[in-house]
Amino acid sequence: MTTPAPRDKRPPQTPELYQYVLDHNPPLHPVLSELVETTHARFPERAGLQSAREQGPLLAFLIRLTGARRVVEVGTFTGFSALAMALALPPDGKLIACDVSEEWTALAREAWEKAGVADRVDLRIAPAVETLRALPAAPELDLVYLDADKGGYVDYWEEVVPRLRPGGLVVADNVLLHGEVTDPDATGAAAAIRAFNEHVAADRRTEAVMLTVADGLTIARRL
Ligand SMILES: C[S@@+](CC[C@H](N)C(=O)[O-])C[C@H]1O[C@@H](n2cnc3c(N)ncnc32)[C@H](O)[C@@H]1O
Repeated sequence: MTTPAPRDKRPPQTPELYQYVLDHNPPLHPVLSELVETTHARFPERAGLQSAREQGPLLAFLIRLTGARRVVEVGTFTGFSALAMALALPPDGKLIACDVSEEWTALAREAWEKAGVADRVDLRIAPAVETLRALPAAPELDLVYLDADKGGYVDYWEEVVPRLRPGGLVVADNVLLHGEVTDPDATGAAAAIRAFNEHVAADRRTEAVMLTVADGLTIARRL
């Protein structure tokens, strides 16, 4: 018997359908909504760096689902995803947020303060690989969100996977890189993401699924 070709069941991605999805997700916390607006107002050229709207509720869901208390974010920008995760953490939970920009993360700090979760977030301004290497080697992380420079993803993966507890998650954003990942001659960020996706798929320490959420999201679980 031959296996039938896979059938693409995804509906056409219209703006109306996207809005419908947003309308049927939990509403954003008011400070998160305000942060979306402020980021667009203060950094109009860079606002596209912010994680997609639906990723906030999804990250919060994963935090609650796994009972995460020790979380790391690689790539914080103005703090949208970090705030979504910090709000979902229990009061004694901690999020280490890694970024290199004082300017962008100043807005993040304001939002965390306003939402009353600043005490849960430990912002570290340095190249993320240095911050990750300085973390304890023990497998005590519950969830890591990767959303920084794409050329660093494999290094970040190699630093965080041994530090994840069994059942802990790595959530990696932009794994489809605007669809450029299918190009075997891709260069730059697309080539880096292609290499990352191969690396993850071959890693026997984890079980990973790639989803067509936003710009592509891989969720990997430490075995
Ligand atoms: C796509 S944005 C992150 C968006 C963020 N997750 C959000 O929801 O708003 C990527 C961030 O990675 C940071 N970044 C780039 N290279 C980095 C590095 N080597 N180490 C740490 N952060 C880095 C940038 O400064 C930028 O703020």
